[in-house]
Amino acid sequence: MIISFTRIDPSGGDHDALIEFMTRNEFPFHGCPRPGAADVEASISKGAYRDEDNDSFWIDHSEVGRIGFFRLEDLSDDAPLFDLRLDGPFRGRGLGVHTLNAATHHVFSTMPSVNRFEGQTREDNTAMRKTFVRCGWLKEAHYREGWPVDGGAPLASVAYSILRRDWETGQTTTFAWDDLTT
Ligand SMILES: CC(C)(COP(=O)(O)OP(=O)(O)OC[C@H]1O[C@@H](n2cnc3c(N)ncnc32)[C@H](O)[C@@H]1OP(=O)(O)O)[C@@H](O)C(=O)NCCC(=O)NCCS
Repeated sequence: MIISFTRIDPSGGDHDALIEFMTRNEFPFHGCPRPGAADVEASISKGAYRDEDNDSFWIDHSEVGRIGFFRLEDLSDDAPLFDLRLDGPFRGRGLGVHTLNAATHHVFSTMPSVNRFEGQTREDNTAMRKTFVRCGWLKEAHYREGWPVDGGAPLASVAYSILRRDWETGQTTTFAWDDLTT
């Protein structure tokens, strides 16, 4: 099984498919869980899918075809973040792990200046958090009440990352949380 990434042209050939993907799916752990066509159009117009900081891709699986959407963010920094959204029928099948591993390979093998690859998710997104851990990413922060929730109490935002050397060696570098005695 091979996962590959096909670059999205948000205002050209992929415009309609991008709107269709975003409006057909639900994203319960994102700030906008049910985007409408106007929301996606607005994001396209402001460059959220492709500009100097962002680049977006379809996720293609060698056996089952197109399984989702992937975006790199903060590309003008040397520590990009990402947004990963599997298509509904392909969630719950462990494909997140294969996709994140392939994305990590893509980033470190094509972007020589990048030393850290980062991601954040909401504390209750267990599927994503397990995906991070299974891919060798390390939890580095738990921002208490850092994720506003519409109509509810804020939740924590949990931050993970992988270092280039972790990817190269397959060994996650750890650190001591309680490294200061008071
Ligand atoms: C988040 C996402 C990438 C995870 O990928 P996935 O392949 O669907 O992950 P899975 O559903 O296989 O879950 C991974 C593990 O978490 C477990 N899990 C999922 N939800 C759980 C829950 N609520 N409680 C406990 N365990 C849970 C699964 O059982 C699985 O463990 P297992 O393999 O031992 O059974 C994917 O579901 C997705 O795209 N979701 C919508 C968009 C999103 O939230 N993206 C993250 C933004 S960064």
